[in-house]
Amino acid sequence: MTEVTAVILAAGLGERMKSSVPKQFLTVGNEQLLDYSISALQHSVDRIIVTLPSLDVADSLKHQDGVTYVKGGVTRTQSVSNALNLVDTDLVLVHDAARPFATKRLVAEVIAELDSYAATCPVMPVVNSIVVDRDGELESTPERASFREVQTPQGFHTDILREAIATFGEDHAHLPELVRRLGHPVKHVDGSPWLFKVTYAPSLAMAAYYVEHVMHNEEASDV
Ligand code: CTP
Ligand code: MG
Repeated sequence: MTEVTAVILAAGLGERMKSSVPKQFLTVGNEQLLDYSISALQHSVDRIIVTLPSLDVADSLKHQDGVTYVKGGVTRTQSVSNALNLVDTDLVLVHDAARPFATKRLVAEVIAELDSYAATCPVMPVVNSIVVDRDGELESTPERASFREVQTPQGFHTDILREAIATFGEDHAHLPELVRRLGHPVKHVDGSPWLFKVTYAPSLAMAAYYVEHVMHNEEASDV
């Protein structure tokens, strides 16, 4: 089996959450969100690298076997670059620590499609109408049938992701787009509503509900 490293991005400041600590370190149930993210991936990959705002933070985290910590960068993609310097496997998953509830089935699918694709990405249909705003007024309403929301973990052939970032720079947020621009098709796989990203305070209530009622119920969590 080709070895896989998971890069878990936990170096953000979580400004939209407006909490005193970055959202990935908030506790829901008995664990920090980062711990759920690590637990969700650790049985599906060979190594885990976690980006942190500062390496000092690592001392205060629950000990996790086989996890390496690295300081992140100013942007999400710069955090990915810092972690990629330590990756020595052919395949890599890039995952948001703020998305704590990936299922094994989804992670397996993201990895399996890397047999045929340079990059893979879970996506969900958009539930709300999408409009274009110009100076606070409605400018236009695009047909959203082909629109998708992007989730993580996203899978990559490590050398192609490195080449994509080196070629197109570190300021683009959607890494599979950089791989596409290199000329490689990117495979979308079905995401999950439980793979939401904790962003604003109400999503913490959803996370608490998941931990209490869904996490240990395979049928309920696999949607
Ligand atoms: N992230 C990171 N390094 C950065 C920015 C973000 O590792 N320089 C991580 C975050 O910790 C998060 C994930 O990337 O797990 C997705 O980013 P986002 O949801 O935007 O988190 P934040 O940037 O922390 O939040 P906000 O945008 O509200 O400040
Ligand atoms: Mg952000």
